[in-house]
Amino acid sequence: AEERAALREKIKRLLIERNAVLVAHYYTDPEIQALAEETGGCVSDSLEMARFGRDHDASTLVVAGVKFMGETAKILSPEKRVLMPTLEATCSLDIGCPIDEFSAFCDEHPDRTVVVYANTSAAVKARADWVVTSSIALDVVDYLDGEGQKILWAPDKHLGDYVRRETGADVLLWDGACIVHEEFKAQGILDLKKVYPDAAVLVHPESPASVVELADMVGSTTQIINAARDLPNKQMIVATDQGIFYKLQQQVPDKEFIIAPTAGSGATCRSCANCPWMAMNALDNLAAVLESGTNEVFVDPALGLEAMKPLTRMLDFAA
Ligand code: 13P
Ligand code: SF4
Repeated sequence: AEERAALREKIKRLLIERNAVLVAHYYTDPEIQALAEETGGCVSDSLEMARFGRDHDASTLVVAGVKFMGETAKILSPEKRVLMPTLEATCSLDIGCPIDEFSAFCDEHPDRTVVVYANTSAAVKARADWVVTSSIALDVVDYLDGEGQKILWAPDKHLGDYVRRETGADVLLWDGACIVHEEFKAQGILDLKKVYPDAAVLVHPESPASVVELADMVGSTTQIINAARDLPNKQMIVATDQGIFYKLQQQVPDKEFIIAPTAGSGATCRSCANCPWMAMNALDNLAAVLESGTNEVFVDPALGLEAMKPLTRMLDFAA
């Protein structure tokens, strides 16, 4: 414990010395989220992380999350130094959407507006007309549909299918998935509902349709936290990464949160729904990169300029 306290103090000191700010996702370790809060950084969803990093005047952004978040920060602020506790933390959606295949897919459908999820590489973003995160996917596609546009959506098929069902837009889907959310099981949630009949079910839209169907509310991490506060229920079954429980308990201390099971029937799940890549962010590698300046994120400048266009479109739309 003493060692961890010393690590925390070291990180705080280095953040000041390096003119750096910590930008963390809700799925990271609670210790990292707490540090980001204490030091004037941000703990948020993908959309707010992007905006916060772009608008902050620190010269170095330390992004605790996964690769696409570091890349997004660099694309939006090419003049800033962007560091990550690890450069190995990726995302199954990013891995499942390699630029060559994706680009060929787009070429086959030149009549479609290309909308990609933020969980993609800089190269995939550069090929897109729009980037969206889960908090504004519905609004953007609804807007494009209203303009009479047909959509090519990548990479998350569950989120894309959800957006298609909700908006009625013509959406052609890429076949990708989040390995964490894809594991939630409808039967497990139905079983939990028997134990907690008054609980609301809050679901991230990267989950399969059978799980989304059981939801009282579907939304991004931030939207889940807001719903936990606003819905009258005293208990909430939550289908997203367990990292979010830190913020849920902090923001809504009088309610009980139960993680949705990923195993089949009956299981209550303690070690489930935890993104292995998010979990690679820890106090020790965070302190190490701040000290050494290693693990800097680079994006090819020409590619970055192309990717900045749909990212800026997203931030302007959300504003
Ligand atoms: P949001 O925080 O934007 O909802 O994204 C979820 C996610 O899976 C990020 O990895
Ligand atoms: Fe990717 Fe899923 Fe992990 Fe988010 S939780 S980084 S979408 S694998």
